[in-house]
Amino acid sequence: MTSANDDLKALVRTIPDFPKPGIQFRDVTTLLLDGRGFGLAVERLAATVGEAPDLVAGVEARGFILGAALARELGCGLLLIRKDGKLPGATIAEDYALEYGTDRLAMHVDACSAGAKVLLADDLIATGGTALAAARLIRRAGGHVVGARFLIDLPDLGGAEALRAEGIDVASLIEFE
Ligand code: PRP
Ligand code: ADE
Repeated sequence: MTSANDDLKALVRTIPDFPKPGIQFRDVTTLLLDGRGFGLAVERLAATVGEAPDLVAGVEARGFILGAALARELGCGLLLIRKDGKLPGATIAEDYALEYGTDRLAMHVDACSAGAKVLLADDLIATGGTALAAARLIRRAGGHVVGARFLIDLPDLGGAEALRAEGIDVASLIEFE
């Protein structure tokens, strides 16, 4: 069966056993190298967003790329959620687990005003550990997570479902088993 974003799916490369044995790594660098594909991905993600948020939050590192492009497309600002230890101002931090390890994310505590509508963006959702940690940070800082957008969803790992269980509106363009 063909589906709407098969053209974009064909641009994503799969690398077996990276970064650990057993992981099928879905590599978006090949899609980003294709100017038309990159542009279409951003336009199609933007088309899934109803009311424009106040901010798009991009998660380091791959989430910065789509987050920045999506923020420009929607005409809003970009909130950077970084791996801990990189941001120069006062930060809050959250630990999390992902498909192949654990890490710690941080954001500037003053990065969003109380009640700001924030849309999360990343290249991919797997277990949802990263996105849930990012959502916790935004909420702790006073923001309202209005949704989350991903180029790729790995539904078997349950991340999108976990976000929806938190009341977050989730959309993605491509699924891989
Ligand atoms: C990848 C991806 C997401 C996260 C998804 O980032 O870009 O942020 O994993 O996995 P999860 O849903 O199981 O949390 P990674 O931590 O590999 O960092 P990178 O963007 O710096 O490559
Ligand atoms: N992040 C978490 N799981 C991933 C995967 N299978 N491919 C690419 N990025 C990922």
